[in-house]
Amino acid sequence: MEKYNLTQLSDISDLAQQEVIGYYKKYINPGIAFFLKVLGFAQHKIVKSEGMYLYTESGKKIMDFLGGMSVLNHGHNHPRILKARRNFNKNKRLEICKAFISQYQSVLAKNLAEIFPENLQYSFFCNSGAEANEGALKIALLYQRTKSKDKVVYTDLGYHGKTFATMSVSGSFSRPHRELFKQIPGCIEIPFGDIDTFAKISKERNDLAVVILEAIKADLALLPPPGYLKELYSLCQKNGILLIVDEIFAGFGRTGKMFSFEYGDIVPDIVTFSKSLGGGKASIAGYIVKPQIFKKTYGQLGNCTIHTTTFGGLGEECATAIEALNIINDDGLVENARVQGEYLLSQMRYLKAKYPQYIKEVRSVGLLGTFQFRNSADIFGPAFLKRIPGLKKGMTGLFPAAVASELFKKHNILIYSGGKEDYLPVNPALIVKRGEIDSFIKAMDDVLGRNIFNLAMKLTLNVV
Ligand SMILES: Cc1ncc(COP(=O)(O)O)c(C=O)c1O
Repeated sequence: MEKYNLTQLSDISDLAQQEVIGYYKKYINPGIAFFLKVLGFAQHKIVKSEGMYLYTESGKKIMDFLGGMSVLNHGHNHPRILKARRNFNKNKRLEICKAFISQYQSVLAKNLAEIFPENLQYSFFCNSGAEANEGALKIALLYQRTKSKDKVVYTDLGYHGKTFATMSVSGSFSRPHRELFKQIPGCIEIPFGDIDTFAKISKERNDLAVVILEAIKADLALLPPPGYLKELYSLCQKNGILLIVDEIFAGFGRTGKMFSFEYGDIVPDIVTFSKSLGGGKASIAGYIVKPQIFKKTYGQLGNCTIHTTTFGGLGEECATAIEALNIINDDGLVENARVQGEYLLSQMRYLKAKYPQYIKEVRSVGLLGTFQFRNSADIFGPAFLKRIPGLKKGMTGLFPAAVASELFKKHNILIYSGGKEDYLPVNPALIVKRGEIDSFIKAMDDVLGRNIFNLAMKLTLNVV
């Protein structure tokens, strides 16, 4: 038989970045390649990543303040994570464990039960945040089935993933493309932080099964008003409604507490987790649930295989997650997030005072930070709009994109907004040091002090 013409793994280091971009455009997604090129990121071939830094083929050292959107709480390639994975492989440990009970999976679940408060006890493992939220919704709806409660309440700001169910319960703020698809039936949107609306519907309706929300709206670093979560959960308990808190972004220390729901002084019925649990190396996610819910659903013998997945809880993923949790514990990463987060916020406030024409608000809960800029259209004004026909549609997010692009080009700092809105999330790894925060703030100061119109013009001319 004829052999396929496949590129070998060993050939990759010799590939020019133009070839890499070409493959990406041709075989993955030309639109994403285009935007990453416009921002100035795509042209660089990253050859190494370690701790807070990335290294390019051309010798640039880039400080990472994006933090893999909260995947990299431990930094890149943490030595203990690498060692754990090396040992797993050196000893040829069992990876796929369908017929046996995996020591790695069992110990990870036991450790999670140790870390989560109260009686959050039974864990389910999968590979992505959306899948974790799907699983959590499914167990909640199964639990409520006999009570004829089948409605899912979600908040306008929440983001829970891009599968059908999770897109359906992601709020109007977070779902620019949801209108292209049909929402699954039975979903009710409420405003984040508005207890009166929830009090009203929970009183009027007896078909509400579950509420899903982020305890702190992660990419906006937005806490709800004091007392909101406690009151919401008490209404849930009074009316037999379950509460799922999505800790996929904010969990495992980023907020300066192990979990963001601790700020609301509650222990939800189900919590979903992912991202940094994989130590920056493993794609692992899941949920943890209280026993009274588990026992009435999958805890019954006939139901125990209702919710499973092929790649959930593989050996090396679980070994990595066990190490990731131990590093957080041993190295005091939660405390570092709290201390450095306070410092970061004080420095962000300094920038806000210096550049009120650009910065509307700054927030940081631990190292979950955000610059909320003024509306890009207001900053640049109608004259700017007129000069670049066709720009109007892409105006939102222009200011943070221009800032991010310049931070990268002039200061070798990676940060990224996604270009949708007028905010710039700041999520460095939890190992960040005060000196690195100083370098970041100094660079921001320099970029904001320059002619921002020229920067934006350069960027938009590339786009338009
Ligand atoms: C809060 C939150 N929930 C869910 C998800 C979805 O996770 P995934 O992209 O792994 O499906 C994300 C992803 O960014 C998230 O931030």
